[in-house]
This record gives sequence, C-alpha cells and structure tokens, in this order.
Amino acid sequence: DWTAESFVDTTVAGLQAQLGTDKVVLGLSGGVDSSVAAMLIHRAIGANLYCVFVDNGLLRKDEFEGVLDSYKTLGLNVKGVDAKDQFYHALAGLSDPEAKRKAIGKTFIDVFDQEAHLIENVAWLGQGTIYPDVIESVSVKGPSATIKSHHNVGGLPDFMKLKVVEPLNTLFKDEVRLVGRTLGLPNHILGRHPFPGPGLAIRILGDVTAEKVAILQQVDALFIDGLRREGLYDQVWQAGAMLLPVQSVGVMGDERTYERVVALRAVTSVDGMTADWAHLPYTFLADISNEIINKVKGVNRVVYDISSKPPATIEWE
Ligand code: XMP
Repeated sequence: DWTAESFVDTTVAGLQAQLGTDKVVLGLSGGVDSSVAAMLIHRAIGANLYCVFVDNGLLRKDEFEGVLDSYKTLGLNVKGVDAKDQFYHALAGLSDPEAKRKAIGKTFIDVFDQEAHLIENVAWLGQGTIYPDVIESVSVKGPSATIKSHHNVGGLPDFMKLKVVEPLNTLFKDEVRLVGRTLGLPNHILGRHPFPGPGLAIRILGDVTAEKVAILQQVDALFIDGLRREGLYDQVWQAGAMLLPVQSVGVMGDERTYERVVALRAVTSVDGMTADWAHLPYTFLADISNEIINKVKGVNRVVYDISSKPPATIEWE
C-alpha cells in the first residue's frame, strides 16, 4: 500500500544514495510541487540543496516576502532574488500574450542561470515535475515560468547541462499534497490555488507596467482575502482578477470619473482542463465589488466573469 510516510522514507534513502555529497540547485515558485520537491531533497541532503526563489514582480501582493519567510522557517537553504526590474524591462511594450510568456520564460532562465553559476560545483538540477507533467510535458497554453517547459527556448543554458533529479515524477497532485503534509509544509502552501508561471502578466490585458501590477495586486488581494474570510476559498479551484485595457465612466460624489475596469474570475474544476464559473453568493460579490471600488484607486467598475471552459479559458490570455 502507498502511504506518504513510506514514500518519504524510501525516496529520502534513494536520494541519499543517488546524490551522496553532491550539490543540487532548485528553483522554487511558491507553488505546491516545487515546495514539496525541495522539502524532500532537503530531508535527504540538507544544506547541499540550494534553492533559488525569484521575485519576477508578477506575484500576488506580499507573496514573495511571505513565502520566502515560510521557506526559511522550514529550514530550507534558500536565496531570494529580486529580479522585478529585469522582468518589467523585458515586458516593456509587449501586449501579445505569447510574446509576454516568452519574455518571462527567457528572463527566468537568464536569472536562474546566473544564480546557478554562483554555486560552486553544483551537479544536479532539482525539479518538482509531477506525473501529469511527465505525460503532458507542456502546459496548456505554452511555456510556464518553470524550467521544464523551456527546452525549446534558444540555446541550452548551462544549468540545463546538469543532471536532473525529479523525486515527485511518479505522483499525482493529491499524493504530492499528502507527502507535503508529512514533511511539515504549512497549509497556506499546500492548499493554495494554482497560479500561472507568468503570474499577473497574463491577467493584465495588454502591456505590463509596475503601476498596473500594483493595482491588480490590490484588487486580487481583496478578492482572495474575501474568499478566505467567507470560507469560499477552498470551494473554488482557482480565483483571481483581470485588469482590462478599458476605462469606463463612473461617478464619485459630484465628480465624473473615467477609470479602469477589473474582472473577477473564480472557477470550479477538477484538473483545469474544463471548468465552470463559480456560483459565488450575490451578497459576497456585492460586498467585494464595493470594497474594491472604495479601496483601490484607479478602479471604478468591477465585473464578474460567468463563462465556462470550454469555450472560454480560465485565464483571459
Ligand atoms: P487556461 O487559461 O488555459 O488555464 O484555461 C488552465 C490552467 O493553466 C494555468 N495557466 C498557466 N500555467 N503557465 C502556467 O504555468 C502558463 O502560461 C499558463 N497559462 C494558463 C491557469 O492558471 C489554469 O490553472
């Protein structure tokens, strides 16, 4: 019988035999898979696992700092890298969704490659690849900011010449969560909604700027906090907000406003391949809409996306 405990025991012993005193570098994303992979390899080889967590400036509000702190508390040997400006620079002027994905993927590789070079004699690349990734091998819409889907970008960066260690590549997502729980990962990492590698860049329709990211982060945080407060977070599979390239007329006191529109999206799903829009309570939507318009400067209208997948996708880009 498969149990998380026996999987951990066997895998840790296997990793110790395989890796010996070698060094491993691993890119953390804040998501479940890379976090569990890191904890597992860390249990096997301790400080010889070098984790790199890149701030691409496209994460949720306060997420980089919060998650980095959790990783440190868990004892991981992790380096946080502030590469926000590099990503914003690479994204400047780009509106096409695939062009944005490519720019983000390439920048991630540049940053990661540079960091990998700072570790002397590193021999392995650790990855959080899980079994469904092995079967599908590419994400639904194109390259994510994970390393595995970038084999097709330009010439091979040096870190790609490393041997690869993927301790989760026989597991399904629910098993990964059980293993994570056994290893002591906190709920706020294990239970989090999926979040796309390109992050908020594909939720800002059109070109990405630091100012737009800041607006969307505030909207997203109010929405997600509201879902948690009302006990709705675990009932939806994924949720977030889209910043639309549209302004509309509003009124505030005696003043006419002409400001941005945001769309909220929440879906129920099993695997993201198909999805239904979440039938959130009207009272919740009403409160959240008021809160967003009152608190976020520059937004005067909130709409809710009632499209299912297919034919609509979960993300708008
Ligand atoms: P769609 O929008 O295709 O999304 O219905 C399905 C799931 O995939 C995520 N997604 C991505 N994940 N890189 C990723 O790592 C991407 O480029 C990407 N595009 C979509 C999306 O958030 C949803 O969970």
